[in-house]
Amino acid sequence: MIAPAVSETRSPSTDFDLWSDDVLSDPYPCYQQLRDLGPAVWLARHGLWAVARHSAARSALLDGETFTSTEGIAVNDAANNAAKGIMLTTDDPEHLRLRKVFLRPLMPAALNTLKERLNALAEARVDELLKKREFDAVSELAHYLPLTVVTELVGLSEEGKNKMLYWAAGLFNGMGPDGYERTLSGLEITKEAFGYLQNIKREELDPDGWGAALFEAADEGDITHGEARAMLMDYLGPALDTTINGLSSALWLMGRNPEQWDRLRVDPSLINAAIDEAMRLESPIRGFTRYITRDHDLEGVTLYKGDRALILYASANRDERRYEDPEKYDITRKSGDHIAFGYGTHVCAGRHLGKLEISTVLNILVQRVKRIHIVEEGRELHNTLRGLSKLIVRVEEA
Ligand code: HEM
Repeated sequence: MIAPAVSETRSPSTDFDLWSDDVLSDPYPCYQQLRDLGPAVWLARHGLWAVARHSAARSALLDGETFTSTEGIAVNDAANNAAKGIMLTTDDPEHLRLRKVFLRPLMPAALNTLKERLNALAEARVDELLKKREFDAVSELAHYLPLTVVTELVGLSEEGKNKMLYWAAGLFNGMGPDGYERTLSGLEITKEAFGYLQNIKREELDPDGWGAALFEAADEGDITHGEARAMLMDYLGPALDTTINGLSSALWLMGRNPEQWDRLRVDPSLINAAIDEAMRLESPIRGFTRYITRDHDLEGVTLYKGDRALILYASANRDERRYEDPEKYDITRKSGDHIAFGYGTHVCAGRHLGKLEISTVLNILVQRVKRIHIVEEGRELHNTLRGLSKLIVRVEEA
């Protein structure tokens, strides 16, 4: 069936602008209104659905045949065309073939060998920062492990290492709606980043790194050489800001909820739960889109073939239908079913690494820091990511 051409046929509908400065500064009231309007709500201004409730979001993410990723997971066509062929935008069964190769260095057993190095790096950095007592937990702490370790593990050259953070933030901004300043500047950066990876010479990559391993998998016929090149972006694009924002938001929440920090210090076995709860409450990626391949009833709302739906992980994670008192940061809450890492076949392939980086830092801090005082904080508005750009903290040593 051909999709009806007029937006009036989609209901419920609203003219909220999810990419306005107001909403991006504090998106949560808007998310709540969307959840109250229905399991899927037509964003008339942008011509796409918002799926804001926990159960509807999970059911859409599980149904990759109806909610395909192959037409891209951004809002605009230019970003979707640029990302064609990467793992994030491929459907099963091809997607699973790529993911098997991609995951080789990221399985928990492989990550065990990384633990010691991450710990040594984090210890040294925390030592330096504690001497200062006051520091920027974003640029001086949260950036450190992802930038040092991920770019090194992938085996990038100095140029790649230095530019990756700028590129990754640009890529995510470029995923917004057409015509918005943040989208336009992000798309320029997207071109530059894909251009770099498309032209990178295999010899420029560290022969022991993950990037080189992709090309070796291609030599062995597990994937094609084109796929290997495209998958470099899967290692780099989603690995940096996500983890950086995850760690800085966790520290921000700990500064604002000192009783939760005390609790964690008494029982550091809660660190994993504390990270999940931080991801739930301040999801680093607000949402990605899917293209609808056939007419579909999503919990009573009809979505039409040819529509696009924005799955709002950040809203689903605060759904009062699923979480009691959802605005509260509670590290004893069972929030392991949050979807900050996605859900279903595209669930984050790097989540064990991301959580390991965050838990390494928290593990050291719970032993050495009695209290985190927030001195100053700042956010840069972003089309897809949520996180702090600045978090000056003063720490009291234990
Ligand atoms: C706190 C840190 C992280 C968060 C919050 C996060 C979030 C996400 C989310 C929401 C998705 C789902 C995409 C979708 O539904 O289409 C995803 C997928 C993905 N993430 Fe992460 N991510 C994190 C860390 C990482 C790291 C460290 C890496 C790389 C080493 C990574 C690589 C990927 C890849 C490759 C996918 C696509 C998986 C697939 O298509 O099968 N992520 N991530």
